[in-house]
Formats: sequence, structure tokens, C-alpha cells
Amino acid sequence: MSDYPYQDRFPVQRTLPEHGRPRADILAELATMAKEEDAFWETGKCSGTMYCGDHDHYDFLTEAFGLYAHVNALQRDMCPSSTRFEGEIIAMALDLFHAESVTDSEPAGMVTSGGTGSICHAMLAYREHGAARGVTRPNVIKPETAHPAFDKGCHLFGIELRVAPVDPVTTTVDLDWVAANIDDQTVALVGSACNYGYGTVDPIADLGQLALQHGIGLHVDGCLGGWLLPFGQELGYDIPLFDFRVPGVTTISADTHKYGYALKGTSTLLFRDKALRNSQYFFLTDWSGGKYTSPGMDGSRSAGLLAATWASMVQLGREGYRGYAKAVFEASARMQEAVRSHPELRLLGSPTFLFSFTSDEFDVYHVNDFMRGRGWRFNGQQYPNAVHMAVTRPQTQPGVTDEFATDLADAVVYAKEHAAETPKSGAIYGGVAGGMTDEADEFIKMVMADMLDKQQAVPPA
Ligand SMILES: Cc1ncc(COP(=O)(O)O)c(C=O)c1O
Repeated sequence: MSDYPYQDRFPVQRTLPEHGRPRADILAELATMAKEEDAFWETGKCSGTMYCGDHDHYDFLTEAFGLYAHVNALQRDMCPSSTRFEGEIIAMALDLFHAESVTDSEPAGMVTSGGTGSICHAMLAYREHGAARGVTRPNVIKPETAHPAFDKGCHLFGIELRVAPVDPVTTTVDLDWVAANIDDQTVALVGSACNYGYGTVDPIADLGQLALQHGIGLHVDGCLGGWLLPFGQELGYDIPLFDFRVPGVTTISADTHKYGYALKGTSTLLFRDKALRNSQYFFLTDWSGGKYTSPGMDGSRSAGLLAATWASMVQLGREGYRGYAKAVFEASARMQEAVRSHPELRLLGSPTFLFSFTSDEFDVYHVNDFMRGRGWRFNGQQYPNAVHMAVTRPQTQPGVTDEFATDLADAVVYAKEHAAETPKSGAIYGGVAGGMTDEADEFIKMVMADMLDKQQAVPPA
């Protein structure tokens, strides 16, 4: 990854320009970069991240966004439409996760900025709710496979995070470990539906029973699968229940900016009980600037994102989501079949739309190295080394899964031939920290600085 992308074609902006440039020039420059970058995933060879991949849909959402992009959803007297969009997004999400089955409390929700936003808000709510019943040193228990957003949220809010091991074969959480590590300071358990790494679903019903026995919360992380797995269930795929029909589930995160096919920057967080949601509100009623409150951690928020998210949901409807889900599950099944056809490769656990595979015969990163050469972009995992593929709509285009099968067969031959060598690629989340090692602290700061600081007038030494 270059520190100065596009420096050979466009000027590097190191200071605020004295004079502005014509809009047409700027738009042409943006379009050049966007088109080239889109070409990368339009092939269908990129794991995850581009969930819809349909430019007509993106144009439609951009139009909806554009009508409200300049509006601050915090100023509700000026934009009652935001109240409509946000309320209806939450209502539709509660419907998807069967809030109607809750009879002993009042379900509620909120719209956040993304998966990490939803998880952090949930962690804050559990901490505050716990404090109200006298918990002073809160802890949360997550499976090792649950997303780093839980570690981030616990770090930010001073919550101890207890990390439960997972079964190496099923990749789902070790329930005995969880049960043995709950104490009087535990405020919540976590289960994923599904986890990012393996696409597997933790035993949510069993975790729910544990939560009920101890009178604590259970957060189901459906950030990735939340807007896809329910439709997989409707289509008859073998996906266990993980929503509010499962006793003990108290919160669910589900990202609209993933398989909700909305623009980047929104997620839904649903609560079985409104009191839990309300526990994370922040008020400052005696500020000289006026009485202040906002529904979550953000202050000003884009009404455009609310409008676009709402537009995506009502345009697709259940039928649209189900149709897309069918194609994604079918493409994933074909790709998993291709992996299974090679005895040298091993799928991890019982995956859903997302799968990971390793090899007991060679370092599976040799497969990744070869597939990169054919234009594939997977994510790399560790402990064990594995190649990760989250199937999205771009893989449902004609011919993509066949190409995967052909390229994979060649990759296995390559991996066997190069088994004695060290592979070039390694474990990377999201393609940012290439080459990151265990002694990460300084290295991470360097990588982040490379992204943010290099263009300055006096670049950092
Ligand atoms: C299972 C899971 N949870 C949470 C997240 C975090 O979501 P975000 O990157 O939108 O913050 C992800 C992201 O991929 C995820 O896969």
C-alpha cells in the first residue's frame, strides 16, 4: 500500500489551497479514483466489505442520502423526517428479530454508526445497568472469536473482558468455561450470530439459559449476519434461532451497512427492555448552552444516512432481502463444495454464508498467495492459519464461483509445490496492517500514522 496513492497523477494536497478549484475538475478526479477502485471488487473476487455491489442500488441510496446529507439529525424540530426514518428503521429491525415474542418488557432500539458503535453502546448500557444494581467492577464474557469491538468497548468503558476459549472443531464457545467464569460482577455474556472468523453461530439458546440463571444480559452479535441469517432461516437453511424468541437474549446488534445493503455508517442495536437502552443515555441539563441530550455517543449525526438506510430497507422489503440471501447462500455452498473437493483443505466448523479453511498439509497462505495472483482478495486468519471468505452479492454474478473452483484447484497444486517455502501473505483483518507482527504496539502506530499523517506540509520524521 502506497503512502502517497495517486501522487503520480494528482497533486498531493499538503496545505489548504488558497484558491478553490472548479467543481467539474474535482468531480472528474474523484470519479477516476472511484471507478478504478470499484473495478477491484466488481470482479466478484473480494471477500466481504462490498455487500450489495449493485451500482443502481448505490445510486438510489445516494439520491436518498443527498436529500438529507446536509441535515443534522440532532435538530429534530427542523427534520421531523429523521424521527420517522429512525423510528421506522428500529421498528423494522425489531420486527426482523421477533420483538413481538417479548411479553414481559418493552423492546426498543437505536441506530448507531456501525458494528463497533452498536457493540460499544451495548457495553455501555450493560455497565450502567449493572451499576444501578450495585456492580462496581463489571465484567463481560465473550468467546475468543467475538469481534475486537467488544475488547474496544470494554477498554473504553473500564469493563473487564473475560475471553472464553472456543472448541477447535466447532469453533463455538466453550459453555463450561463461560459458566465457571460468571461471578457477581458479570453484567453480560456475548455470543455471535455469526462470528467474523468462521461464520459459525455460538450456542445462543444455552448462553441464554446461563444468562437467565444468573440474572445477567446476553448480547448477540449479529453485526455481520443479522441482516442475512434470518432470511437464511426462512429459506430453510440450518441456522439456529438467535433472536428475541430465544429466552435470555437481551440485546442484538445487526449492521444495516453490511447485509442491510445501506450506505456505510449505520447499524441497528436492539434491546429486549427499553430500560436497558435508556440506561446509556447521557444528559447535561444545567449547561449554559442549553439542556443537552443525544440518543447515543454521537452528537450531530447525518440525517442522510438515516434516510438512505430507511430507503434501502423499504425498497428491498422482506422479499428483496430473501432473494438476495438465496443467491448468497447458494454461491457460498458452491464455493464451500469446491473447498471440500480438496482433501488437503479443511473447512473450520459448520459455516453459514461465510467460511474459512485451513490445511493440515501445507501453510494455507500459499493458497492465498496464488489466489492473489488471480485477483482474489481474502482475509487471512491465525491460530490456526486460515483463509476467510465472506460471500456477498458480487460473488453471485455468473461464473464467479466456477472461477473460484478452477483457481482453487490450481492454488492447491501451487501450495504443494511450495510447501517447503515461507508464504508471502499472513493474517490480516481488513487489509490494513500488512506484515503486522506480535510486537505490534509501535508498528500499529506507524501504520496508522502512514494513513493519516504523511501528506502534511512537514511530514513527520
Ligand atoms: C461479527 C462482527 N461484529 C462486529 C463487527 C464490527 O463492525 P464495524 O466494522 O461496522 O464496526 C464486524 C465487522 O466486520 C463483524 O464481522
